[in-house]
Amino acid sequence: MSTADSFAELARFYDPIMRHVDYDRWYLVADALTGLLPRPFRHLDAACGTGVLLHKLLRDGWNTCGVDLSVSMVRAGKPASGKWPVAVGDLRALPYADSFDYVTCLFDSVNFLLSHDELAAGIRSLADCLSPDGVLYFDVVTERMVLDHFADQEWTERNGKFSTRWKCDYDRTTRTVETRIQVNSGESYTLYERVYELDEIDDAVRRAGLQLIGAFDAESWRRPRRKTVRVDYVVTKGDPKRFGTAFRNIEKHVQSLLR
Ligand SMILES: C[S@@+](CC[C@H](N)C(=O)[O-])C[C@H]1O[C@@H](n2cnc3c(N)ncnc32)[C@H](O)[C@@H]1O
Repeated sequence: MSTADSFAELARFYDPIMRHVDYDRWYLVADALTGLLPRPFRHLDAACGTGVLLHKLLRDGWNTCGVDLSVSMVRAGKPASGKWPVAVGDLRALPYADSFDYVTCLFDSVNFLLSHDELAAGIRSLADCLSPDGVLYFDVVTERMVLDHFADQEWTERNGKFSTRWKCDYDRTTRTVETRIQVNSGESYTLYERVYELDEIDDAVRRAGLQLIGAFDAESWRRPRRKTVRVDYVVTKGDPKRFGTAFRNIEKHVQSLLR
């Protein structure tokens, strides 16, 4: 099990590279799901990276903090002033038993767990962080995403003051994506992600003692389809039935916001 910081060199370029990413969608879903929580609630953003989401939630006054494996990402996200409640830690062994009512783990961070054992350890550890009725919201990219947008592709992006050259290879046997990113004409940095069948994610969720509240196509919040590229999972440690109407209302609300 590797604990290497694969974002070490990339961290200082991360925010400009991700400037085009729609963080608002995660923000609005994360916010809508607070309708399931007691007040006040304690929130953890696991694999928070440079804290793009966390900074927004802090501005909204959330009682929140972050954790990420990459010391460089955590450093790169430190604001010039103001709060930065974040720790360095591994998704697969978080030391926060029963400490949070709400945990998020977004932007494919779960796909960075590269084997079934790592996936199981990661979901179990996220589950451990939750209070008895706690809610976990995480997302994963699907093989469809990789085949449609990344597999065996090369491209160049302009990211403000620098440019990046991307090369992605997909190993269909191990379902692992290798992404090499070169900044200007410098060194290349390599990231690995793994895609899982939704059944495999469901299995890891169940084995961690969690129950599914809902799994949705992240772009529509409808049922995942063959064309779905990202799936949002909302799971809980307690009985999901207790959320009945409240969750259905949130589901409709999110669907209307995403339209
Ligand atoms: C694609 S980035 C997403 C970061 C952040 N959630 C965001 O939305 O910008 C994936 C993040 O997962 C973190 N990560 C990967 N493996 C991890 C692990 N085992 N434990 C904690 N963080 C991990 C990386 O350091 C990186 O910050």
